[in-house]
Parts: sequence; structure tokens; C-alpha cells
Amino acid sequence: MADTRTIRVFDTTLRDGEQSPGASMNLAEKVEIAQALADLGVDIIEAGFPIASPGDFEAVRAVAGAIRGTTVCGLARCNDADIDRAWESLKCAEHPRIHVFLATSAIHREFKLKMDMDEIVARAVAGVRRAAGYCDDVEFSPEDAARTEPDFLCRVVEAAIAAGATTVNIPDTVGYATPTHMGGVIRNLRERVPNIDKAIISVHCHNDLGLAVANSLAAVENGAGQVECTINGIGERAGNCSLEEVVMALRTRGDFYHADTKVVSQRLVPVSRLVSNVTGLQVQRNKAIVGRNAFAHEAGIHQDGMLKEPRTYEIMRPADVGFTSTDLVLGKHSGRVALADRARTMGYRLTAEQLQDVFENFKKLADKKKEIYDSDIASLIEQQILVETEAWSFVSYEMATHTGQTPRVTLKLQHDGAAGPKEVTTTVQAGDGPVDAMFLAIEELTGYQVQCRSFGVQSVSVGKDAQGEVLVELEHQGRRYKGRGVSTDSVEASARAFLNAINRIETGPQQDKIDVYK
Ligand code: KIV
Ligand code: ZN
Repeated sequence: MADTRTIRVFDTTLRDGEQSPGASMNLAEKVEIAQALADLGVDIIEAGFPIASPGDFEAVRAVAGAIRGTTVCGLARCNDADIDRAWESLKCAEHPRIHVFLATSAIHREFKLKMDMDEIVARAVAGVRRAAGYCDDVEFSPEDAARTEPDFLCRVVEAAIAAGATTVNIPDTVGYATPTHMGGVIRNLRERVPNIDKAIISVHCHNDLGLAVANSLAAVENGAGQVECTINGIGERAGNCSLEEVVMALRTRGDFYHADTKVVSQRLVPVSRLVSNVTGLQVQRNKAIVGRNAFAHEAGIHQDGMLKEPRTYEIMRPADVGFTSTDLVLGKHSGRVALADRARTMGYRLTAEQLQDVFENFKKLADKKKEIYDSDIASLIEQQILVETEAWSFVSYEMATHTGQTPRVTLKLQHDGAAGPKEVTTTVQAGDGPVDAMFLAIEELTGYQVQCRSFGVQSVSVGKDAQGEVLVELEHQGRRYKGRGVSTDSVEASARAFLNAINRIETGPQQDKIDVYK
């Protein structure tokens, strides 16, 4: 029987994933996700594109400083300024990697770069050499490789390896490939590039045709030793290869692929939930592996089979990917130790101080609702540990509203500015309903005029007393910002979501960001 190969998992949730429209994350959120990715067991974390913006630079530097035991990578185009900036942000990492990229396909050469083949090879070699001067872990990506002429791709890859690239990553930048095509691209490189054994071959697939995972698996079948992916498959347009899907496909079908990863699969659901909460990008219910319905059996014949022998209809066990068998966990009388234990099982690391704060909020919540579920706990923790410097915070409101009459709201917020915290209050009688009135009051107090592009409410757990989770998307000066708020009171949850988005506008991590594809 063939030996099992270990495939490296390169997670780019914080870089390519963050390129999902509206999914920008602040520094605290990025560090929290990076920590969760390290605990998940990924091999490389691509933390950002340092030259893209000061916010990206600081985030890569913070992740590089915080993570131990996992490689931290920063992206750079093949030019000196990008590479120098990438190194500046990565140099404190225990295991730094610089990832340089340059487009190679005819369409990119002619229309985007206006460079001929010789110029592309020379630029790629210069970029890899400069990166290799800083660290010995250098990845090179010929962008749009899947649409690059096979002979030219071999030439660029060979030159990049000779210049010092230790990983050559083959992107299907526009999600154009099919599995047979992608497998062939990798096979061709293995057969025709003389120095290919000096580097790891990686694959980076986008999901425009819904084939990113299938294409990545085909690449592995043909010798790729690294897959690039994101949690929940988030990313540009239709997204990237989904980490949880590719990892579980390799593990579940080890009989076929003879390959596996070091991912601790029981952490997949908590990390998926964390990324979804932070980015506001909800996971579809029927999403493979981590969707709410991924293990739900509706048909009677399936349920019957499941009761007799779960393997009749289940190819993986829910617990293998981190779904807990019973979600009902704690109540009013549960203590700090039980909460800490539950948080640990769910994959969160809390400092003593964070645990104390979460515990206080847990007690307040337990006064309002009888049964506290895992999803409630996840919400409490995320609200606590992910708040960076939230300039605006909710204090209280009073609302008078009757059918057929304009609502009246008195709202109190706190603003943490340079002069310290200050409470501000306003009364507004306007709007179509309580939520609209609340949003108008927030706009008045914060001074931001925004368009609300989407608004949705769902329950965090079950029961009439369930907490409501509100997700909003606001538009401000042509950019979109997501916000999330949770409370047992849906008007308060709406206010918190609106403020969360306003706080993102105020810190503006994506402003003036360079577009990676330009
Ligand atoms: O999709 C792509 O080509 C990329 C590169 C920067 C690797 O994300
Ligand atoms: Zn990409």
C-alpha cells in the first residue's frame, strides 16, 4: 500500500479571504483568527499583503509577533518596495515566508503588465532573489497560471526555483480550470521542469465554476504538496478552495488519495463559526462539513438507517468536524469552571481576565434566558475578545412605539475619543419603525450618514427567549462595511450591529488599500 503523504495547508483567509467584498477585519480579529488557525493545525498562515495599506502591514506584523510554531506569510508583488515592506512586517515571525507573485498568462502580459515573456522571467527572478536575500522560505506564484501557455509556465517555474523559490504555487486565479485540466498542469510541471524536486508544488484555486475543491484535489492527485485555501471558502468573487472541504475530502478518502494534512478536524466548526461571525459572511445551511444541515437527516428512511447504523448514511461523524452531540450546556447555576471548560472544548483560548469578563456577561444573559447554548457562548466570547478599540458603544435606549404612529427613541451611546470616554444622548421621533428610528438616532449621534444595504435577523440558538443576531451591511463613501450585533432584544441587537459597522468605518482598515490584482 502507498505511504500517506502529508499535504501542507496554506491558509489565506486573512489575505485572499479578506478580499471578499465587505469582509474586512480589524487587527484584533485578525490576530484571533490567526491564533485559531494555528490551533487548527494549518502549516502556513498568509496574514496579509503588507504594502496594501498601513492596516495590512500592522496586521501582518501583529500576527507574525503573536504566532509560534506555524509559518506566517506576507504577500508581495515582484518589486523591491513590496518585498522590503513584506519583510519589515514579517521579520519578527518565528518562521517567516515571503510570497511573491507575478502574472504570466498572455492576457495579463499583454493587457495588464504590458511585458513580454523575457521581461516576465527577469522580473520573477529578481523578485524571488530579493525575497531570498531576506529569508530562506520563499513562495513564488505565476498568477493566472492555469491560463498560461504550458511551455512558458515551465520556463518561469524553473527560473523561479533556480532563483531560490522553495514553493511554487500554481494559481487558477479566475476559477477557469476543470479537474482534468488542473491535474494536467501539475503533471506537466512535474514531468518537464528539471529542478521541480527542489520545491514544493502548491495549488491555489478560485471557485468561479464551483470547482475549486475538485481542482485542488486533482492537483494533489498529480503531485501537489500544498493546498491554498480559506475557511468557509471565502474570497474574491465566488471565493477560494474551502479548507474544511479539501481537508475532510483527503481524510475521508485517504484510501484513494493516500494523503492527509495535520489539521485537527474537531476544530473546524468552531473556526468556521469564528470566521463567519467576524466577517459577517454567513455559512449557507447546506454547506459541506460546517453548514448547519451538513449532518441533518430529514428523510424517514435515512433516520431509520442512522438509528440502526450511522455509517449507512454518514461518511464522517459530526464530532469529527467539531459538532457537539448536545448543544445544550449551561444555565444560571453553572460556574466559571464549567464555562471555561466549555470554551476550551469549543476551541477558544481565554486569558483569566477575558474569562472573568465573559463570565460576568454569561451571568447577565442567564438572568434573561434559561438555557445557554454553545452558540450563545460563542457569541459572548466573540463579543468580548474581538472588540478592539470600539470607538462607539451602546449604553441604553428607551422607545415609544405604536401601530400607525412614528416611533420615538431616546438613545445613549458612549464615545471613547482622545479625551477619554464620554456619554452622548439624543431623542429622535422619526422613521418607519423602531429599527429605522434607532438607526437615525445613531446616525445623528455619530455624525455618519450611511446607506443600509442589507439587514437580516436570525436567532443564535433556539427557543422563544433566544438571542437575536443582526447582520447589517452599510455603505459609506462608496465602500461597504459589515456589522454584527447580538442581544435577547432585537432592537438592541440592531443598534449594536449598526454601531459595529460604524466602528469599522471609523477605523477604516481597508481604506486606500492597493488592489492585489492590479
Ligand atoms: O488568485 C491568485 O492568483 C492569487 C495570487 C496572489 C496567488 O491570489
Ligand atoms: Zn487568489
